[in-house]
Amino acid sequence: MTHKENHLSSRRRFFKTAAAAGVGSLFLDVPGLFAEQLVATPDQTEGPYYPPTLPLDTDNDLVVINSNLTSAVGQITYISGRILNSSGDPIRNAYMEIWHADNTGAYIHPSSNGYANRDVNFQGFGRFLTGSSGEYLFRTIKPGLYTGRTRHIHFKVKAGGQTLTSQLYFLGESQNASDSVLQGIRDTTARNSVIVPFVSIEGSSVGAIAARFDIVLSVTPSVVPVLTMTNLTNPTRTGYLAGDSWRVDLKNASAGSRVYLHLWKDNVDLGVSGPYGSLTDGSGAWSLTGSYGSSETGLWEVQAVIGSSTSPETSAPVNIRISNS
Ligand SMILES: [Fe+2]
Repeated sequence: MTHKENHLSSRRRFFKTAAAAGVGSLFLDVPGLFAEQLVATPDQTEGPYYPPTLPLDTDNDLVVINSNLTSAVGQITYISGRILNSSGDPIRNAYMEIWHADNTGAYIHPSSNGYANRDVNFQGFGRFLTGSSGEYLFRTIKPGLYTGRTRHIHFKVKAGGQTLTSQLYFLGESQNASDSVLQGIRDTTARNSVIVPFVSIEGSSVGAIAARFDIVLSVTPSVVPVLTMTNLTNPTRTGYLAGDSWRVDLKNASAGSRVYLHLWKDNVDLGVSGPYGSLTDGSGAWSLTGSYGSSETGLWEVQAVIGSSTSPETSAPVNIRISNS
């Protein structure tokens, strides 16, 4: 009915798997080969261009913002892989973000060279929450070059209270050998683990390229806190209407802990508040119920913070949209 719902459905135009995007068959798992290559993904600097304000659309398709008709300029590029713990097991509910320069080398950051003339149709930032396979997938464009760096894609992965901040590189780029950030990874095996081949997708009418990149966290999060929201008034409704009753459930948190909530509204960080409700039970479960008021319409993001307001133990954020009609 409303344009809000259109907006919501376009947000759902997620590519859930590499297969759905048509790139899955490119990558066959080779047992043994992978085991030999399992090396913890090295940390690298976040750099100066993490978006100070998130774009209006933050899904895993950086080529199109919401339901805009105009796409970003540049060579279509797929990045997919698995997020693994140090034992090589896939991590469910790992939260991944990427951000990189547009086709002209500009970031969605006012300090970035060329910001004023950047490609406004390029989303510049995207995120993904893994399922049980630990798989992630992004569709984006090949990043442009900017002075002082070789071609690269920034990423962050959060799982089980751990955050990895790093960068991904294109095999064969002439400036790789002189890039101070890349060459700052002293260990050769670790350095080579973040340089991957981007190959042409056979039959792609737009000349798309794709890379496979597994991310290995150095620690083993045994369980990851998971936050879910249920619409008690209408469980099948996508999103919420003002007046709907909700229940928020937390699982896999530490037992006997206070629960705080980190809230964002329309991408504005409202900070951490709480504690809310009772302590987590012996299995680390917790829940809370309430209803939405008419003044609360907008796009919300909710993340559980467990133990104290500054604890590193958090769930991945959950997005909900509340509308008036
Ligand atoms: Fe950068």
